[in-house]
Amino acid sequence: MTIIGIIGAGHIGSQVARKAVELGYDVVIGNSRGPETLADLVAELGPKARAATASEAGAAGDFAVVTIPLGNYKDLPVEELSGKIVIDTINYYWERDGHIAALDAGETTTSSLVQEYLKDSKVAKGFNHIGAAEITTTGTPTGTENRRALATASDHEDAAALITRLYDEFGFDTVNIGPLAESWRVERDRPAYGPRQNVEELTNNLAKAPRTI
Ligand SMILES: NC(=O)c1ccc[n+]([C@@H]2O[C@H](COP(=O)([O-])OP(=O)(O)OC[C@H]3O[C@@H](n4cnc5c(N)ncnc54)[C@H](OP(=O)(O)O)[C@@H]3O)[C@@H](O)[C@H]2O)c1
Repeated sequence: MTIIGIIGAGHIGSQVARKAVELGYDVVIGNSRGPETLADLVAELGPKARAATASEAGAAGDFAVVTIPLGNYKDLPVEELSGKIVIDTINYYWERDGHIAALDAGETTTSSLVQEYLKDSKVAKGFNHIGAAEITTTGTPTGTENRRALATASDHEDAAALITRLYDEFGFDTVNIGPLAESWRVERDRPAYGPRQNVEELTNNLAKAPRTI
C-alpha cells in the first residue's frame, strides 16, 4: 500500500487523485480551507481517499504531490515533507502569484524555489505542462506508438526515478531534463508548455526553449 499525500485539491490535485485511486494508490488530500470542504471530492474518490489538512496530507504520504499557487509555496509543511520525495506541479503566474524578481530575471526556476524551501525533501518537477483534464484522458499503455511524454527535472536521482514510474503508470513517457536549474525549459510559455508531445517532440521543444520570455 502506497499513500500519496496531495497538497492542493483543485484542478490538478483532484485529477491526480482520481488517476492515483484508479491505479490502486491510497490518497490523503488537503487544501487551504480544511477537510470539510473536500467532502464531495472524497465521496467521489471512494474508500481509498480521505481528506485532511495540508500538513496531515504531507505527513501521511509515502511521497507527496504539491499543487498549489506558487505565491503560497511557503505555506507548504516543511517538517512533514522532510525526507520525502515531493512532486511539484507548480507554475509561475505573476498575475496570480505576484512578481518574483529572480524568476522574472531568469536567475532561478520555480521548482528550485520549492526545493530551497523544502530543503530536506527531494523535489521532482511533474505534471506542470499538461492540462488538468488531460491527466485522466490522454495516457496510454507503455509502448504505445506516439505515446504522450511529460518532462521532469530533479536534483535527486531517486525522485526522478519515482516520477518516471508514476508517469508510466499514469500513461506517459518521461523526458528527464536534468537538474532543477534546467527546469525553466518546461516552464510557462516555453514551446513544451501545453501541447501534446511524444518523446522526440518534447526533447526538441525543450532544446529550443528561450531562457526568458
Ligand atoms: N490547471 C492546470 O491545468 C494546471 C496544469 C499544470 C500545472 N498547474 C499548476 O499547478 C498548481 C495547481 O493548479 P490548479 O489549477 O490545480 O489550481 P486550483 O484549481 O486553483 O487549486 C489550487 C489548490 O491549492 C490549494 N491551496 C492554495 N493555497 C494553499 C495553501 N497555502 N495550502 C494548502 N493548499 C492551498 C487550494 O485550496 P483552497 O481552494 O482551499 O484554497 C486548491 O485546492 C498551480 O501552481 C498551477 O499553476 C495547473
